[in-house]
Amino acid sequence: MNITDKKHSVLVWDFPVRVFHWLLVVSFAGAWITSESEAQQMFHYAFGYSACGLILFRIIWGIVGTKYARFTQFCKGPVETIRHIKSLLSGSQHHGLGHNPAGALAMITLMVLVLLIGLTGYWSVKELFADLANEAHEAIASLAMGIVVVHVAAAIIMSFMQKENLIQAMVTGKKQGNQDQGIRFPMYFVGIGLIVAWIYTFYLVVRGSLPALTQ
Ligand code: HEM
Ligand code: HEM
Repeated sequence: MNITDKKHSVLVWDFPVRVFHWLLVVSFAGAWITSESEAQQMFHYAFGYSACGLILFRIIWGIVGTKYARFTQFCKGPVETIRHIKSLLSGSQHHGLGHNPAGALAMITLMVLVLLIGLTGYWSVKELFADLANEAHEAIASLAMGIVVVHVAAAIIMSFMQKENLIQAMVTGKKQGNQDQGIRFPMYFVGIGLIVAWIYTFYLVVRGSLPALTQ
């Protein structure tokens, strides 16, 4: 093995990406759990709107964030994505440390669906397109849940195929790679700002301080 091929633990996911992901899991699960109880209605709205806030942040971070956070790093055109899926099905592995193009497609779909859930939820509250909005809200939420199940299964299966724990990597931010492939700055201050903004949004919605969104 060439000395430059030696694998090291390198930082791939900056802190804001990890905070975004795990707060999105909390928000989505929270919105799901509170969706049927009238007593927990404000919590449902708070989890739902904070999920949308996270997606808006991630869109900005996908443009200005660190190397592997950028959309240009993992969003490939349809031709390359299909070629990639075919090569995965034929048993070959994903090279490179960022998201693979097939997984990225599911992730982008999830982000768009969460925004649509938020929009139809808002319409339900405002009684705009009343029944339609309500039904669309539930249907899109169920579709998103289905994709989440596939997404989690894919993360587990890919971890075995690539012999690297991708879920742990989303926690620590680190993967095995060459030293020059890693990012240099974890951007802790942006991630901490995101946590504070998430808590504050949640708090404002729960206590009814944003009536334009909840009444
Ligand atoms: C416990 C459940 C979950 C696990 C274990 C999990 C695991 C993962 C992993 C391992 C990745 C990185 C994939 C890679 O290495 O390329 C990832 C990315 C992602 N996941 Fe999940 N996920 C979970 C739930 C969710 C949920 C509920 C959503 C959305 C509703 C979601 C949306 C995303 C998105 C948008 C990304 C891209 C992250 C980014 O680039 O910022 N995940 N997930
Ligand atoms: C990720 C975010 C969200 C998810 C997963 C989600 C999921 C759901 C689900 C599954 C239901 C159906 C509950 C039932 O079986 O009756 C529901 C109902 C509802 N959601 Fe959401 N929701 C989210 C965000 C929001 C947001 C941001 C709002 C806006 C304020 C909202 C407003 C509503 C309303 C008003 C209902 C009740 C509809 C009815 O009268 O049956 N949701 N949500």
